[in-house]
Amino acid sequence: MENDIAKVLLSEEQIQARVHEMGRQIAWDYRGKNPVMVCILKGAIMFYTDLLRAMPIQLSMDFMAVSSYGKRTKSSGEVEIRKDLSNSIENRHVVIVEDIIDSGFTLTYLSRMLAARGASSIKICTLLDKPSRRAPGITLKSDYYGFEVPDEFVVGYGLDYNEAYRNLPYIGVLKSEIYEK
Ligand code: IMP
Ligand code: MG
Repeated sequence: MENDIAKVLLSEEQIQARVHEMGRQIAWDYRGKNPVMVCILKGAIMFYTDLLRAMPIQLSMDFMAVSSYGKRTKSSGEVEIRKDLSNSIENRHVVIVEDIIDSGFTLTYLSRMLAARGASSIKICTLLDKPSRRAPGITLKSDYYGFEVPDEFVVGYGLDYNEAYRNLPYIGVLKSEIYEK
C-alpha cells in the first residue's frame, strides 16, 4: 500500500495536532448548543472520531452516506444519498463534518438539503480544502478547515481512491500511474 504513495503531504503528527486544535475551537463555539455533528461517510470517519474526542461538550452524533466519484477522480456534480440521518435535525445546530471540499458540489447540495429540514444553523467543517478546484458558481466555503491542499489527488486518513488507502494514518499524494491506468 505504501509503495503507491508518491509523497506524504501531511504526517500523522501534523494531522493529530491540527484536528485537536479544531476540536477545541468548535467545542468553544458550540458550548451550550448541543450540536448535531454529522459525519459524511466514509471519507470523514477518521477525522470525525478524532475531532469529536477533542470536543469536551454535549453533542449528538449522526451519519450520512453519499456517493461521490466511484472510480473516477473528478466530481460529477450529482449527489446521491445512500444513507440518511437517523434523527430529526429540526431546531438543532448542525455541523457537517466532511473529509475535503473540492469542487464544492457535495457540500453545497448537502447544506441546502439539511437547511430545508429546519436546522437552526448549519456549518461546514472539513479536514482539507482544495480552493483551486472550486467549480464555477460555487461560493461555498468551509467554516472550519484543517489544511489547504494543492490540486493533487490525495489519499489516507479516510480519503480513498477506489475504496483503498483509507486506513493510512497520514495523507499522501497517490502516484499518478495508479489512477491513470
Ligand atoms: P466535491 O463535491 O467535488 O467537493 O467532492 C467531494 C468529495 O470528493 C469528497 O468527499 C471526497 O470523497 C472526494 N474527493 C475530492 N478530492 C479528493 C481527493 O483528492 N482524494 C480523495 N477523495 C477526494
Ligand atoms: Mg470518496
